[in-house]
Amino acid sequence: MIDDPVLVNDWHPVAGVDQLARGGPLGARLLGEDIVLWRSGDDHFAWRDLCVHRGTRLSLGKVVAGGALECPYHGWTYGTDGRCVLMPAHPEQTPPAKACVQVYRTAVAHGLIWVSLGSPAGGVPSFEMLEDPAYQVLRAGPYRVKASGPRIVENFLDVGHFPFVHEGILGDRARPEIADYETSTDSNGVLATGVKVFQPDPYATGHGSVVTYTYRVHRPLSASFIKHGEHSFGMLLSVTPHDAVDSTAWMWMAMNYEPESPMVEFQDRIFAQDRPILESQRPELLPLDLQAELHLRSDRTAIAYRRWLREIGVRTGTA
Ligand code: FES
Ligand SMILES: [Fe+2]
Repeated sequence: MIDDPVLVNDWHPVAGVDQLARGGPLGARLLGEDIVLWRSGDDHFAWRDLCVHRGTRLSLGKVVAGGALECPYHGWTYGTDGRCVLMPAHPEQTPPAKACVQVYRTAVAHGLIWVSLGSPAGGVPSFEMLEDPAYQVLRAGPYRVKASGPRIVENFLDVGHFPFVHEGILGDRARPEIADYETSTDSNGVLATGVKVFQPDPYATGHGSVVTYTYRVHRPLSASFIKHGEHSFGMLLSVTPHDAVDSTAWMWMAMNYEPESPMVEFQDRIFAQDRPILESQRPELLPLDLQAELHLRSDRTAIAYRRWLREIGVRTGTA
């Protein structure tokens, strides 16, 4: 496991609830740790993906009798609390107390299974537009990216790249200027308000307009924006840090209007434009020393984000 108390004690999305529809098991990787996910009824489990007998991956095993996980190698069977309940070679023998896998906390929210490898102080990131019945909510991704989680979040917060990376959709190279806006930071994260940009097609409806964004960083690897204008459109991003520079981005979109093109495909196109940029950035780890890269006034959200990560001591994907 990566030595990063802040992220170890945070919640991270690891799989869609639908991926465990048949019970699992399913392997996942979080913060350098291999985990096995499985389900029994309405309960979801996340354990270290390692049988204590001979170190085999439990994610290669199977869910048996609806409520236990069987190792693929010698069939040791673990109950929902992670204790071994059966060693088939010696069915009469009570498994020793040490025959117990490492169990982690799980939560279900926004259609995903979330895991914490530690003791989270708060809950899964929430975003009010996802709870508001006035909005249609769609999920895009997951997008696996060979990049650091903080680099992905910073890209999400960055409007200066729109005219170049998303030319003709989210920006216009003839109108690349970014007016000044405000940011503030507190213990809950970063807030940027009044971020204005001209967009040729901000809502996938085929019409251009100036839109104003409110950006929020909720957790080190979760951020949202709300686009205010002719319509309201919001997005929540949560990034799974598999390893320092191997991540998965999950996105939820909320809108109070009927888009003219399918929004998930629209987001797939946008993300396909960001991906090569993200995978090309060097150093791969986001530098938290503000002297390490150059910053403009329009980068103030990124500056605030880097400062905050440094302040709270996030280590994964940062330098
Ligand atoms: S390694 Fe799992 S039962 Fe032997
Ligand atoms: Fe982008």
